[in-house]
Amino acid sequence: MPVHLNTAGAGLMPPAVVETMTAYLREEAEGGAYETEQRHASALEQGVYETLARVVDAPVGDMALFDSATRAWTSAVGSLRLHPGDRIWITPYEYAGNLILWTELRRRAGVHVEVVPLLPGGDPDLDWMRRNIREDVAVVSVPHVPSGCGIVNPVEEIGRILAGRRCLYLVDACQSVGQLPVSVREIGCDLLTGAGRKFLCGPRGTGFAFVGPRLRAAASPPFHDLHVADMTSDDAYEVRTEGARRFEYAERSGAAVVGLHAALRHHLERAERGEVRPSPLRDRVREVVESLPGTRLVDPGSRHASLVTFVCEHVPAGRVREELAARGVNVWVAQGSHTPLHMRRHGVTEAVRVSPHHHNGPDDIEEFAHALGEVLRRRPAAVL
Ligand SMILES: Cc1ncc(COP(=O)(O)O)c(C=O)c1O
Repeated sequence: MPVHLNTAGAGLMPPAVVETMTAYLREEAEGGAYETEQRHASALEQGVYETLARVVDAPVGDMALFDSATRAWTSAVGSLRLHPGDRIWITPYEYAGNLILWTELRRRAGVHVEVVPLLPGGDPDLDWMRRNIREDVAVVSVPHVPSGCGIVNPVEEIGRILAGRRCLYLVDACQSVGQLPVSVREIGCDLLTGAGRKFLCGPRGTGFAFVGPRLRAAASPPFHDLHVADMTSDDAYEVRTEGARRFEYAERSGAAVVGLHAALRHHLERAERGEVRPSPLRDRVREVVESLPGTRLVDPGSRHASLVTFVCEHVPAGRVREELAARGVNVWVAQGSHTPLHMRRHGVTEAVRVSPHHHNGPDDIEEFAHALGEVLRRRPAAVL
């Protein structure tokens, strides 16, 4: 089994998740998918939402499920009623998928997208935010932890700055849920999105959102699917819920949803034992990288998650990934274009991303250190 240090891509599913999904699929294959869904209705329609609400500390009626974090984000943000001149604040850490939607909304709705400045160390300039927040700021969007580097943004403090303001506050928690305690109540946001497959160690094809009442009031979803809406006459329909599920689509993979539910339960057990925190092994990863000549950490901010990225001066990140994989160590390549504003400023087109999680032990990092040392020492031959 390889040493898996790519949780920021997709975490390793614990046995309980795999067994739950396998049993569900077998039941579908033997007894029919709709029939299986009916038998599991209480978990699929209620249980998973209740557990998810506990994980992010939010009211259950504000939770919705999707097939990716991007679907969750675009379903909510894409349906906002925005007006020409509305100001949108983002940080340089905004995820590229979210930026594509902002770019589209700039064209379609005439909003202005502004980038909050950073302090020299890379943290967002909170004093600037305090001084400049006004009623024409319609939305503030912050990733809790970005895709391309390990800064933990101060989302709770930003929430306190924005409290009582007109603006909607959006938090992309894709890389934080599962490795950091995440509380919608403490953050004070209107939208929080995430993926099941990363630090929650759930299955692929799962995403979720907390969609708060202020955001729901400011949104006009272009469509409501049949799990929440009925045609009531030839030319009228009615939506049966005011809750967040109105942003969902009806069709989904039951196996993925029960797998996500198992992953969420597993996470809550770890939370009860006080184990939800970034893996302390990230510090050893940084030490290893810093000790090797010709490497540069991409490491802004004063608080760090279990996500370490670095560039090697003479070896492309893709080559490092391949060579480490050949030695039984999984890392990934963070594309600069996925966190483009920050990475472009720092001249990074690709970086090696290392993201250990709770299942990793110190030996895994020593294996990584040994393999990386070998790859970089063999550099001239490898590059030729
Ligand atoms: C910070 C961040 N936001 C959003 C996403 C998009 O998630 P998904 O691939 O589930 O749409 C990612 C994916 O890596 C991410 O790192």
